[in-house]
Amino acid sequence: MNYLLIGLVGVLIIQFAVFFGPPYLPTFKAQRKLALDMLDLKPGQTFYDLGCGDGSLLIEASRRGLKAVGYELNPVLATVAWLRTMRHREKVRIVVGNFWKADLSDANGIFVFLAGRYMSKIDRLVTSQVENPIRLVSYGFSIPDRKADVKKGAMFLYQYGQLAPDTQSV
Ligand SMILES: C[S@@+](CC[C@H](N)C(=O)[O-])C[C@H]1O[C@@H](n2cnc3c(N)ncnc32)[C@H](O)[C@@H]1O
Repeated sequence: MNYLLIGLVGVLIIQFAVFFGPPYLPTFKAQRKLALDMLDLKPGQTFYDLGCGDGSLLIEASRRGLKAVGYELNPVLATVAWLRTMRHREKVRIVVGNFWKADLSDANGIFVFLAGRYMSKIDRLVTSQVENPIRLVSYGFSIPDRKADVKKGAMFLYQYGQLAPDTQSV
C-alpha cells in the first residue's frame, strides 16, 4: 500500500504539468537530430524547446552552436534539465515556467512535442508573437488548418513570417 502511494505521488510529481499541457515523454536521439536538421538554424541563432523535459534537445542545440532556451513547468524536470545543461550554461537557459506565457520575440526556431489538442493554441501563440521569421518543428502532431512546409516522418516544419531567400532551402 505504501509503495502504491509512493508510486502515485512519484507519477504525479513527474506528470503534474499535465494540468497545463502534455505529459512528459522524451524524444529519441534520432528525432532530436532530425528536428534540428529541419529547423536548419545557423550558429548564434536562438532555439526554443517549449516543454523541454530533461533538456536533451537543448544540449544538442548547444552542440550545434545555437543559443537554446527551454521552458519547463515541472520543477523536477526543470532541475534535471538545468543540471544536465550546466556545461552549456553560456548558451543554454532554462525557464521554470509556463510556455503559454513565453516571450518568443528572439526565437529563430521552436520545437514542440505536445498533443493534438494544443496545436491550434501553439499556432496562435507563435502567430501573435512573430516579429522575425520563425521556423517551428512539431513532433507527432500537425497544426490544423496550416499546411506544413516540410513533413519528414512524424516531424512537421512550419514557417512563420517572411524568410530571406537563402534560408528557404530545407
Ligand atoms: C512530451 S514532453 C516533451 C519533452 C521534450 N521536449 C522532448 O522532446 O524530449 C512535454 C513536456 O512539456 C512540459 N509541459 C507541459 N505543459 C507545459 C507548460 N504549459 N509549460 C511548460 N512546460 C510544459 C511537460 O512537463 C513535459 O516535460
